[in-house]
Amino acid sequence: MKIALIGYGKMGKTIEKLAIERNHEIVSIIDQDNQHDFDSAAFLDADVAIEFTNPETAVANYLRCFEREIAVVSGTTGWLAELLNIVSLVEQQQKSFLYASNFSIGVNIMFWLNKQLAVLMNKLPGYEAKMLEIHHTQKKDAPSGTAITLAEDIIHKTERLNKWVLDEKKADYELPIKAIREGGVFGYHQVQYESNEDTILLSHNAKSRDGFALGAIMAAEFLYGKKGFFTMDDVLKL
Ligand SMILES: NC(=O)c1ccc[n+]([C@@H]2O[C@H](COP(=O)([O-])OP(=O)(O)OC[C@H]3O[C@@H](n4cnc5c(N)ncnc54)[C@H](OP(=O)(O)O)[C@@H]3O)[C@@H](O)[C@H]2O)c1
Repeated sequence: MKIALIGYGKMGKTIEKLAIERNHEIVSIIDQDNQHDFDSAAFLDADVAIEFTNPETAVANYLRCFEREIAVVSGTTGWLAELLNIVSLVEQQQKSFLYASNFSIGVNIMFWLNKQLAVLMNKLPGYEAKMLEIHHTQKKDAPSGTAITLAEDIIHKTERLNKWVLDEKKADYELPIKAIREGGVFGYHQVQYESNEDTILLSHNAKSRDGFALGAIMAAEFLYGKKGFFTMDDVLKL
């Protein structure tokens, strides 16, 4: 496959390394300082663009790809307020777009387990739900996109909860998320249910960026030739 990378930071560079190992070709790399390359022959020749930049620029980059009929795998987090607009545009105009707050296979298994666990815990009001996420200090958004996905899945299945909050909760219907930024942590997520008698923990720890990069490349392979909006549930058939 011919892959264009938008964003050549920590994730862009890891994806480049693993994509070449899987015999893909990186035909174009767009970073802050070569925005004119969106109109280059090399970019227009790409089968798919993989975008890992920042929340301020992500949506504009998706629109540029759609205008040029380039399929997009979106990894940037922190722009979710725009997600519904992007999904309806993709569906109305038959564009090709896949978004995941986390491309790691292990995290997507955790997403699945989290939903099943929340169904059980909904029947057990003696347990209080809380969450923790830890990331490296350069991460710009908090809580992480992954933590928001986990929290929204819990809230959706739990009658006694109706919103997540960063830090301490002020009401019983709030699900608190503690976000810690320290050292070189690639991504740790934990869902905790606490009763007077015991603690249940569901957690995932990323050992490197390779798991996110590999998942994004698998997503690009899945998206090739398809139209519409997709997620990692479609890629992994969860
Ligand atoms: N979904 C997932 O599985 C997953 C996993 C890891 C990370 N992420 C998310 O992915 C994003 C990127 O993470 P990262 O660790 O790679 O960050 P990073 O190292 O800061 O890299 C971001 C890159 O994007 C570049 N950039 C900024 N504006 C741009 C623009 N308009 N066009 C093209 N490139 C531009 C930056 O250039 P400058 O350095 O010049 O600003 C930088 O090279 C974050 O939102 C992070 O939360 C998601």
